[in-house]
Formats: sequence, C-alpha cells, structure tokens
Amino acid sequence: MRGGAQSHLMRCDDGNYYVVKFQNNPQHKRVLVNELLGTRLARRLGLPTATVEIVYVSDELIKLTPDLCVETARTKIPCQAGMQFGSGFPGDPHQLTLHDFLPDKQLLEVENLDDFTGMLVFDKWTCNTNGRQTLFYPVLRDGQDAQTTRYRTIMIDQGFCFNAGEWNFPDAPLRGLYSRNRVYEGVTGRGSFAVWLKRVEKHITERMLDAVIREIPPEWYEDDLDALWRLIEQLHRRRSVVPELLLAAKNTTRHPFPNWI
Ligand SMILES: Nc1ncnc2c1ncn2[C@@H]1O[C@H](COP(=O)(O)OP(=O)(O)O)[C@@H](O)[C@H]1O
Ligand SMILES: [Mg+2]
Repeated sequence: MRGGAQSHLMRCDDGNYYVVKFQNNPQHKRVLVNELLGTRLARRLGLPTATVEIVYVSDELIKLTPDLCVETARTKIPCQAGMQFGSGFPGDPHQLTLHDFLPDKQLLEVENLDDFTGMLVFDKWTCNTNGRQTLFYPVLRDGQDAQTTRYRTIMIDQGFCFNAGEWNFPDAPLRGLYSRNRVYEGVTGRGSFAVWLKRVEKHITERMLDAVIREIPPEWYEDDLDALWRLIEQLHRRRSVVPELLLAAKNTTRHPFPNWI
C-alpha cells in the first residue's frame, strides 16, 4: 500500500482482507499500539472506523513471499514475522472501489460528514501529528439514481496519534485537522462539539482502557508497560484541554470552521 508504514494488503484465514502494518515498519514499532488503541478509543466514541484484528504472519509465509519486505533508500529487508496490526478492508477489494480523497463537490454526498467533527475532537485529544486520514466508499441503495453516488467515510491511520513513537503531546493549532474545510461546514459554535466532548468524558472508562491494554501484544511496546500506562494517564488528564485546543484551531488564519461566527 502507499504510505510511510509500507503496509500490505493480505487475505487472512477468516476469509477477510486486511491492510497489515508490520512491527518493523519504517515509522516506529509503537505505531501498531497507536493504531490498536486509537481505533478502539475512536470506536468507543461512536466514530466510524475500520474493523481491527491482530494478524499473525508466519515466518514461512514471509520466506515464500519476496514482496513481503520493507524498503528504505538503501536496503530491503523482509517483514518481521509474528503479531501485526490489521485494519479491515471494508468489503471485497476486487469489487469495492475505495477513495482516499473526494473532490469538494462530492464531499457533500457523504452521508456521515458530521463525523469529521467528532474525529477532530478525537485527533485533538490524542494529538494526532498527521492530518486526519479517512477512506470513502460508495453506498449502494436499491432504486438509487445512478447520477448521484452517495458515500460513507471511515477513519483510518491512527499511527501518528500520541505523536507516533514519541508518546507525547506537542499540541499545535492546525494539527489533526482534515485537509478540506468543507467537512466542517456543520460546525456552528462550541456546541457542535459538545456531544463528542461528553463522550470522551463519559465513555472512556478505566475498565475499557484495561481491556484494550490487555489486548495489545507486549512486543509492540517492547514490554515497557510503564510507558504505556504513562501514556494512558496523560490521555486521561488531557480530556479537559480539548475545548481550548478546538478554539485555538478556530482562531487560525485557515478558518477551518466557515460557519462558526
Ligand atoms: N482498512 C483499510 N481498508 C482499505 N484500505 C486501507 C485501510 N487502511 C489503510 N488503507 C490504505 O492503505 C494506505 C496506507 O495505510 P495507512 O494506515 O494510511 O498507513 P501509513 O501510516 O503508511 O500512511 C492508506 O492510504 C489507504 O489507502
Ligand atoms: Mg496514512
């Protein structure tokens, strides 16, 4: 796949397809933790995400598949065997056309465009140091007018939440925003974020976090459970600064929220 982590599209033994990020990706081993934790948190907030699975890739498969490798400017090394992060392809790749981007006009045909508002709350909270990335897929309905295709979006690539491998939070006003302001046209004031902020406050419980941590393969964080807990504690504390971070984004010259006056 395109992208800095050099993921691979793989069919797994449950019969489904996954975009698999490997432990020895060129970004950082911890991006696998960020993906799993970030996606579980986002889902808990009611945001649309891909399904997530931990994918076991055997040594044998890697040996038999020369394409399963990680390339840098000078070297080409095989992908590492073991537990990897799998992001579920939302359908059959032979039949479903996905879009990384849609032109502005078509963005208005996205049924769940308002979810970008919630995603921004999530990305500010987790300090996603990459722009927000999503996928768009067409929704097919009986009797639909062939002229207008409707779409849905799902959020992908939580790898740079918590500042990638750094696990810190260098907040900046433009961080985490999606590249098109059009997706924020529904934002009319602070109140537009209220429902999402409330979910961050109420839905992310200690029990939920415990369960996610237990799910993460320890080799993804090199057995440094203390570092992982520190990350979780900081996240917990940061919940209260999200409104300020949103306000800082509003006050930039980019004016990301055209209808917030
Ligand atoms: N669940 C998914 N279903 C389909 N395609 C995906 C999925 N996740 C990622 N991709 C595709 O793979 C590419 C790389 O994945 P991404 O998570 O963005 O990794 P990177 O960290 O390398 O940018 C994306 O640009 C997207 O096109
Ligand atoms: Mg990406």
